[in-house]
Amino acid sequence: MTRKGIILAGGSGTRLYPITIGVSKQLLPVYDKPMIYYPLTVLMLAGIREIAVITTPDDQEQFQRLMGDGSQWGLSITWLKQPRPEGLAQAYLLAEEFLAGAPSAMVLGDNLFFGHGLPELLAKAGAREVGGTVFGYRVADPERYGVVDFAPDGEVRAIIEKPEVAPSRYAVTGLYFLDGTAPERARAVQPSARGELEIVSVLESYLADGGLGVEQMGRGYAWLDTGTLGSLLDAGNFVRTLSERQGQQIGSPDEVAHMLGWIDDAALEARAKLFGKNAYGAYLRSLLG
Ligand code: TTP
Repeated sequence: MTRKGIILAGGSGTRLYPITIGVSKQLLPVYDKPMIYYPLTVLMLAGIREIAVITTPDDQEQFQRLMGDGSQWGLSITWLKQPRPEGLAQAYLLAEEFLAGAPSAMVLGDNLFFGHGLPELLAKAGAREVGGTVFGYRVADPERYGVVDFAPDGEVRAIIEKPEVAPSRYAVTGLYFLDGTAPERARAVQPSARGELEIVSVLESYLADGGLGVEQMGRGYAWLDTGTLGSLLDAGNFVRTLSERQGQQIGSPDEVAHMLGWIDDAALEARAKLFGKNAYGAYLRSLLG
């Protein structure tokens, strides 16, 4: 079965209050694009064209205004609502019908990935039909994340959510490739002490079957999350520095769709028109050669 995508873009964004009282975090700008464009293009680079976007009920309309049904990018977007932020694993329950037994790649709406070889890494994870793949990334402050506990032979022994003493420096990023059994595993998860259905519990279920692989994202990659005021600004500066230096966009679904042949020149031109004379429009026109 073809792998489907999920972007989890609900949550309350309390760390960005007062900004996110009025608007979803995932619609905020990361330099020159809405945040959700970055995880969206990651799924597209993984070759995924059927995508469910999960938002809060209040925010859904704004996301729809931005992204529509996805056809402008050769995608099919399904819109789902998460009434309350009851945990990342809840995404698999909300998307169970959409997935209809298919394997999935879920990405958090506030995660940004960048690195040479990313499409190949995604392809490797996508090719795994049974079990799951998560990505380990070395961070200075692992206590803030789900952390990989490696056995002496290098195998993954456990993943520990926000440990007081981190068993390694490798955080699990917000990108999960899981097989078609994810919803059924999520259904068995009980809420944690903080009242959430924890993604770590789903990953543990795969670990117990010996079915979870951890791919390292090496030092050549950037994994940024944008959940705090500082990290949001840092991510914006990162995108600005790189894209201005190289004259290439980061996280443009229009460019990726065109590169993958999901939209033709005429469709890209129509999109470019929408942006008029601004830099994004000029960039899209430059891709037409
Ligand atoms: P978090 O950053 O953990 O939570 P949040 O976005 O609500 O922010 P804060 O901690 O400042 O209150 O969420 C990570 C990502 O997952 C983010 O993109 C929002 C999303 N999310 C949901 O969509 N639903 C959920 O139930 C949770 C817990 C998170």
